Amino acid sequence: MSHAPTAALDARQAAIRRAIAGRDLDALVVTSLANLTYLTNFSGSSGIAVLTRDRLIFITDSRYLTALEQTCGTPYECPRTEVVVVDAAYDVSLKAVLDGMPSARIGVEAAHLSVSRYNWLRREAGRDRDARELVATEGIVEAARARKDAYELGVMREAARRLSRVAARLGEIAAAGRTERDVALAIDSAIRREGFEKTAFETIVASGPNSALPHARPSERKLVEGDLVVLDFGGVYDSYCVDLTRTVSLGPASPRAREVYDAVLRAHDRAIAAVAPGRSRFDIDAAARAVLTEAGMGDAFGHGTGHGLGIEVHEEPRIVRRRGQEAPPDEAVQPGMVFTIEPGAYFPGWGGVRIEDDVLVTDSGAELLTEVSTRLMELKG
Ligand code: GLY
Ligand code: MN
Ligand code: MN
Repeated sequence: MSHAPTAALDARQAAIRRAIAGRDLDALVVTSLANLTYLTNFSGSSGIAVLTRDRLIFITDSRYLTALEQTCGTPYECPRTEVVVVDAAYDVSLKAVLDGMPSARIGVEAAHLSVSRYNWLRREAGRDRDARELVATEGIVEAARARKDAYELGVMREAARRLSRVAARLGEIAAAGRTERDVALAIDSAIRREGFEKTAFETIVASGPNSALPHARPSERKLVEGDLVVLDFGGVYDSYCVDLTRTVSLGPASPRAREVYDAVLRAHDRAIAAVAPGRSRFDIDAAARAVLTEAGMGDAFGHGTGHGLGIEVHEEPRIVRRRGQEAPPDEAVQPGMVFTIEPGAYFPGWGGVRIEDDVLVTDSGAELLTEVSTRLMELKG
């Protein structure tokens, strides 16, 4: 559940109203649950909002009325929200809402509306309404979400402190003889005990050769001396996600393990040093990639350097390799953006290393939100 104060919700809604006015739209139908949370604090699993230039109509069903009342109750209020309770089906209620509006150009979220619902709306909500136009839009609310407001930053700083405390306990948790699944369970339990609502994704514990798989699922493999173990975990705190990875060695690290670890750590540090307002997100990725390429490990780093964090664990901005020559308009990172820096190097059959932290772009540079040592831990084998 998110607890953003009314003033923050007001400001977010006002920003979206400006964005839709700038696109000559009269309303935006919001069907992304993450976008609904951002605009209204709603944390149920079904709802639709229709944001017009001066109204917010929230459509949900009876299962979530109590949640909505809690969300809107004091001390937090949903500003000027008109609630519509679904009687038969969401589409029918949405059509009724749209039919009751004089609006002519209505935006829908192309990435969050099924083709069948879009077709149905076009057919049904457009009936007897020659002047109505449904307009597919991309990323209007997501673009606003990329820059966190003061409330969100407070939540994310606290979440990162808590996740760092979990990371500080990895030395006790990842022990020889334990299976990857046992270790993942212990991490999940530590995450819950730190006050997180839930884990942000399925915890990754990848040991020995499994650590070569960037998104391995924990298996019954037992950790043994000589393993590198990638531990990647995240938590959702007051609706916001944080995400952290450390790679540890069970027993003394081999010279090759240390070489790979040191190269990934230099890539991590170099990318963080490159974070500053106005910097190209592609240049931040390139900073990490250059280090690994110089170390002869460029091909072993297949994924992007990082991703935005917020209500979703993967959101804007994407800190990735530049593709093609075209410069997209959202290339520069801006103050208030929070994203991961998580370079890695993976060698099939041998293993891999990833080191991940969460950073905030400030007015003058970067603030590291997660704080836990990046030195290679050599645990008792
Ligand atoms: N395990 C998800 C991530 O680090 O992005
Ligand atoms: Mn992660
Ligand atoms: Mn991540």
